[in-house]
Amino acid sequence: MKSLNDIQIVSAKGESCGEGGGCCGSSVETLQATGLTEAIQERYSRVAERGANNEIIDTSCCGNASDLYSEGTLQTVTTQAAGASAGCGNPVGIADVNKGEKVLDLGSGGGIDCFLAAQATGPEGHVYGVDMTHEMLKLARENAAKLDAQNVTFLLGKIEAVPLPDDSVDLVISNCVIALAPDKHRVFEEIHRVLKPGGRFVVSDVVSTTEIPDSAREDMAEWVACIGGADLQTRYLERITETGFERTTVLTDNPFSSDRTDDAWRASLRSVTVRAYKPG
Ligand SMILES: C[S@@+](CC[C@H](N)C(=O)[O-])C[C@H]1O[C@@H](n2cnc3c(N)ncnc32)[C@H](O)[C@@H]1O
Repeated sequence: MKSLNDIQIVSAKGESCGEGGGCCGSSVETLQATGLTEAIQERYSRVAERGANNEIIDTSCCGNASDLYSEGTLQTVTTQAAGASAGCGNPVGIADVNKGEKVLDLGSGGGIDCFLAAQATGPEGHVYGVDMTHEMLKLARENAAKLDAQNVTFLLGKIEAVPLPDDSVDLVISNCVIALAPDKHRVFEEIHRVLKPGGRFVVSDVVSTTEIPDSAREDMAEWVACIGGADLQTRYLERITETGFERTTVLTDNPFSSDRTDDAWRASLRSVTVRAYKPG
């Protein structure tokens, strides 16, 4: 990894798109962090603060909440949760969440997908959101209080070491987070550990169909934008099988919202939503 002192996150279009942005490198901003975890926390703290302050986030280079969720859906959560949305899919929309289920959201951010899942589980179910960024956790808890979402709990933690017991949830969701993890195999092992036998995960993530060059992999600015850490799609699906999941299905497969296509590998970035089951 190159030093991150004063590194600039360059627009996915190669031009300034203003402040803000979510998972897709749409902003030019300065990071002070020198380690990957700290860089991720720094970037998503800023996203949380802008969501909390109702600041308009210029997402002209990439997706925003209204690209991923219907207007009616967004009206059921706070504007701050929608404003901090930094996903690349809508896993809850296709996860067929059942009443009474226990759901875990990995990298829950401002909580948007937790609140949508909690509507589907009803009060007899429960949703846990795990995130390592304090500002995101604070925002998510404020949003939960505003929505009086009593069946949602936000936990501070890392997706590589989920603070929940074995065999404890029916469904794991995640939205544009596993691409940020250097050890994806460990994350899938954690998903496998916390799922009940027969449970499933439905995760949206960034992958590529052409190898991402080392220069991008080693660039922390690309990494925190969910690009440098994106797996080759075939590798991503192999990891899932290697971890012991079955019936893996790619439910959605769309071009990643960045429209910078000057390199073949960049043009090959995809936003996919994948479902797989822990054997019963
Ligand atoms: C791109 S945002 C997505 C947030 C949310 N899922 C959404 O759709 O709006 C990534 C989130 O994952 C969190 N995150 C990234 N890596 C993490 C890790 N290893 N453990 C826990 N949280 C992580 C970040 O703090 C941030 O809130």
